Amino acid sequence: MATAVAARAGGLEGIEVGETALSLVDGERGRLVLRGHDVEALAGRVGFEDVAGLLLDGRLPDPARREAIAAALGAGRAVAFERLAADPAPLQAGVAMDALRAGVARLEEAADPLAALGALAGAIAVIAAAWWRARAGLEPLAPDPAAPHARDLLRLVTGRADDERAAALDAYLVTVGDHGMNASTFAARVVASTRSDAVSATVAAIGALKGPLHGGAPGPVLDMLDAIGEPGRAGAWIEAELAAGRRIMGMGHRVYRVRDPRAAVLEAVTTRLERAGVAAGRLALARAAEAAAEAALARRHPGRALKANVEFYTAVLLDAIGLPRELFTAVFAAGRVVGWLAHVEEQRRDGRLIRPSVRYVGMNPAAVP
Ligand code: COA
Repeated sequence: MATAVAARAGGLEGIEVGETALSLVDGERGRLVLRGHDVEALAGRVGFEDVAGLLLDGRLPDPARREAIAAALGAGRAVAFERLAADPAPLQAGVAMDALRAGVARLEEAADPLAALGALAGAIAVIAAAWWRARAGLEPLAPDPAAPHARDLLRLVTGRADDERAAALDAYLVTVGDHGMNASTFAARVVASTRSDAVSATVAAIGALKGPLHGGAPGPVLDMLDAIGEPGRAGAWIEAELAAGRRIMGMGHRVYRVRDPRAAVLEAVTTRLERAGVAAGRLALARAAEAAAEAALARRHPGRALKANVEFYTAVLLDAIGLPRELFTAVFAAGRVVGWLAHVEEQRRDGRLIRPSVRYVGMNPAAVP
């Protein structure tokens, strides 16, 4: 029994590992607040540049600060493109997250947080796009430093960016900007707590985000929707997966005991896209799959609410705007990098070395001859 308790505690569930003023994740009520603003009040209303300012500075930027943030992001993309032309080795990676890890690892520490934001976010956007295009046999596209970050990211990948799709991607990047002490943010904070640099912290975060239990879920969500094919087959398909002992990607969450509020935000953004006729979407199929998965999981785990998380509708939204599933986790990183950086800054300001204890359950030293 003691071992079972220790195994659960191994996930640090419910353990407060510090303090943050960046985001509040209320798992009981299904509420996400970024520096005092509900995520619903931000997504679709302000842009990625605004949320970067909000997280880094503590308040939404005024026009001058917003311009400085946009300029830093634009410069970061331009520099990243030049560096990639000189050293394209990261593009050899087999998966996009490995390309990000290799490309970001080549950066030097920036002089200040704004320059760090530009360099890190610029590198992530440009490397992700160039990696995909190389894989598709296409030449990389040069960034437009004057364009908004989300719009340029979309164009760098797909070659075009209309207003509706660019706005949808912007809303997505805002929605995933920060989310409490998630695994990649914790990884970044642990690295920063040793007084290491922001580039190293970001490389650690990219490694954590890559895993299927964290940021790697949306690609498999789309695979699931493909496999289900039509709404009427959702129930049987989900049951077969669970019977085979597999997890349903995009369902369940460590903190939320209700539906992830970001799922609702992204579902609404995708609904608007479909209504505007922009995307012949998979919303009907996704909703059927979600309902079937929620019902099947409730039957199997009556004491545990396992509902859609952010990844479920991330898959539907990013697919609707023409991004390939191979880039979904990298695009998540493109949004979350502002949270990582803000946490690194907060850790540097207020934090101490993170060095928890662990209970030794190995061989008794006295028993070793
Ligand atoms: N599909 C099937 N079963 C699931 C499940 C899912 N998506 N999520 C949780 N469960 C099961 C667990 O296996 C566990 O079963 P057990 O008690 O028989 O061992 C039970 O439900 C309770 O799990 P819980 O303690 O809530 O999981 P967790 O907090 O350790 O994990 C996740 C949370 C997110 C890792 C987990 O829900 C998951 O793997 N989801 C799918 C991956 C995903 O979408 N990740 C993105 C997260 S934003």
